[in-house]
Amino acid sequence: MKFFIDSAHLDEIQKAHALGLVDGVTTNPSLSAQAGLKDMAAFHDQIRKICELVQAPVSAEVVTTTAADMITEAKTLAKIHEQVVVKIPMTPDGLKATHALAREGVRVNVTLIFQPLQAMLAAKAGAAYVSPFIGRLDDISQTGMDLVEQIMAIFNNYGYETEVIVASIRHPLHVLQAALAGADIATIPYKVILQLINHPLTDIGLAKFLEDWKKAQKS
Ligand code: E4P
Repeated sequence: MKFFIDSAHLDEIQKAHALGLVDGVTTNPSLSAQAGLKDMAAFHDQIRKICELVQAPVSAEVVTTTAADMITEAKTLAKIHEQVVVKIPMTPDGLKATHALAREGVRVNVTLIFQPLQAMLAAKAGAAYVSPFIGRLDDISQTGMDLVEQIMAIFNNYGYETEVIVASIRHPLHVLQAALAGADIATIPYKVILQLINHPLTDIGLAKFLEDWKKAQKS
């Protein structure tokens, strides 16, 4: 499973990249706002910097809502860097834009997927990626991972090449479940990446090894 980092913070992306854990990056308008990007120029500049840093796919989301506007915006985003993947919301206009962009060779990540047939429609329209949001389903007492399992089954049934990015990940168990479901990618917040590394028994075991080593040196 590929690990993407779900962040627009350059320092977080840099730290995760140094760990060898960044196969790609996803951003969204909320994450861009959290990273302090106050206008379109700052956003484009940050996307360029992220692309140069990771040399991997970087999702940048449109903030327009009609198909015509999304297509224009997507083409501008795609020109920032060859690694840019344009994120388009799962709406009728978004689907229309996805279909048009895919035919022109622009890679699209269809976002805000909450039911399996939305993912199937996005794949049929030519999306390179779909992003089911599992945490937001868990938040309303639905099992988000069921959605991923259903999408994987449908895509395997019909051989769709669209990659599934498990998004809206809240904790390490989501990452484990995504891997067990055979998802192509998990996009993970930096905080959760750090949680994946740590285990109290690793810390206790290391402390004991070092203590025993020091004792042996003194004896
Ligand atoms: C990534 O593509 C999504 O935009 C992101 O994972 C959403 O996460 P959230 O539900 O925590 O905002």
